[in-house]
Amino acid sequence: AYDASPFVPEGADLGALRRAAGGCRGCPLYRDATGTVFGEGEPSARLVLVGEQPGDQEDRQGRPFVGPAGGVLGRAVQEAGIDPAEAYVTNAVKHFKFQQAERGKRRIHKTPGLREIGACRPWLRAELRLIDPEVVVALGATAGKSLFGPSFRVTEQRGVVLPMPALDGEEGGEGAGVLVATIHPSAVLRADAEARAAAYAGLVADLRVAAGVLN
Ligand code: URA
Ligand code: SF4
Repeated sequence: AYDASPFVPEGADLGALRRAAGGCRGCPLYRDATGTVFGEGEPSARLVLVGEQPGDQEDRQGRPFVGPAGGVLGRAVQEAGIDPAEAYVTNAVKHFKFQQAERGKRRIHKTPGLREIGACRPWLRAELRLIDPEVVVALGATAGKSLFGPSFRVTEQRGVVLPMPALDGEEGGEGAGVLVATIHPSAVLRADAEARAAAYAGLVADLRVAAGVLN
């Protein structure tokens, strides 16, 4: 089975983890992407935002949430009263999964599957174990599935404080933290003109729930 575990060093700090992730071959996604996009932020972060996977821009720049979805997320985080310096930003899957357009150079985003989500989870688990945040925010279905399992549904579980689930063999949850789920910021961009404002407001409202945990 696909699995990043053999590449995850034991006893590593975040810097060493990031360097090791650069050489991960735990699933086939490393082959076509430019490189690993690891999480970014302080090890002392009180809140961790978990996205899906890097997009086109993130893959080119090697940093999470630097493209259009990152713009939406940045605004929503500010509006929810979260200090960006307190937030560590990462993804459930750390390589860009895409399909080459038949003509031209455009790379079309493909949603990662359960196998890739499961393969990459050891990186996310290691990040969460080291940071031990007070609150984790799952942005969308892929992050939710990575943290809760395949039956997770954003629409049913968003905007409420949930106990942090155990991640693969851990004893019950990571530290004393909790989890809040919400939509992915790209869902705001995909919404049509009429639905967009409401989608964005929903994202901000859910992030406020997460911010409330910190106060
Ligand atoms: N979408 C994500 O889920 N993560 C990123 O880093 C960028 C876009
Ligand atoms: Fe490793 Fe995750 Fe990249 Fe797959 S997507 S190669 S598991 S870092």
